[in-house]
Amino acid sequence: MSRPGHLRLGVNIDHVATIRNARGGDHPSPIRAAHAAAAAGADGITAHLREDRRHMTDADIARLVAEIDLPLNLEMAATDEMLAIALTHRPHAACIVPERRAERTTEGGLDAAGKHNTLLPMVGRLHDAGIRVSLFIAPEERQVEAAARLGVPVVELHTGPYAHSDGSVDELARLEAAARMAAEAGLEVHAGHGLSFANVGGVAAIPELAELNIGHFLIGEAVFTGLEGAIRQMRAAMDAARR
Ligand code: PXP
Repeated sequence: MSRPGHLRLGVNIDHVATIRNARGGDHPSPIRAAHAAAAAGADGITAHLREDRRHMTDADIARLVAEIDLPLNLEMAATDEMLAIALTHRPHAACIVPERRAERTTEGGLDAAGKHNTLLPMVGRLHDAGIRVSLFIAPEERQVEAAARLGVPVVELHTGPYAHSDGSVDELARLEAAARMAAEAGLEVHAGHGLSFANVGGVAAIPELAELNIGHFLIGEAVFTGLEGAIRQMRAAMDAARR
């Protein structure tokens, strides 16, 4: 799973649940999507259990942990409720994200610097339960430093501003600098948000990155090419950028 130089692809399946929830039944099943992702070569499954349960449900998380062979990365807000759920299900990894009720998606990075005192005990409890903790942060020096101070093993850099800037050189340079700095601090570096076939190359080429987490685009593309086809094409784009 952690082959040297291999850039892992975590497939975020939240929006399979969004479509399912539109009709309240059980189709399409996020569990089936996770199996399809595994068949297409995904290295992990990511799912965000939001406070308002707008896509993933508690039952989905329980089933993903029980039924899927790939490691599960649970995205969660820094709340007591989510901490209890993570400690119950013990996913492979937990990525702490900021969460605002009214947002359409995770809009900004976590303020690891400003929230040190809240995050420290939570990181400790997750770590003690054997869960690999990551913090979803903006590619900024002070956030990387704050993550290192919190003792997490992983940071995930927010690629949203890069993705939404149509591949701005400045935004890419921010990601490159933050990835370098995080790796020098001994952190494993992940990245994600808003990645697509069109913009994944620049990010995948950053040598310090160990994992990308990609969701919305893949689930949307699956409408046209099927989920497995979309994932295989993303995998190929990532591999091409690494060559
Ligand atoms: N990484 C994190 C921490 C996220 O919150 C999200 C969105 O849920 C993603 C990656 C995936 O973003 P997208 O769905 O835009 O690919």
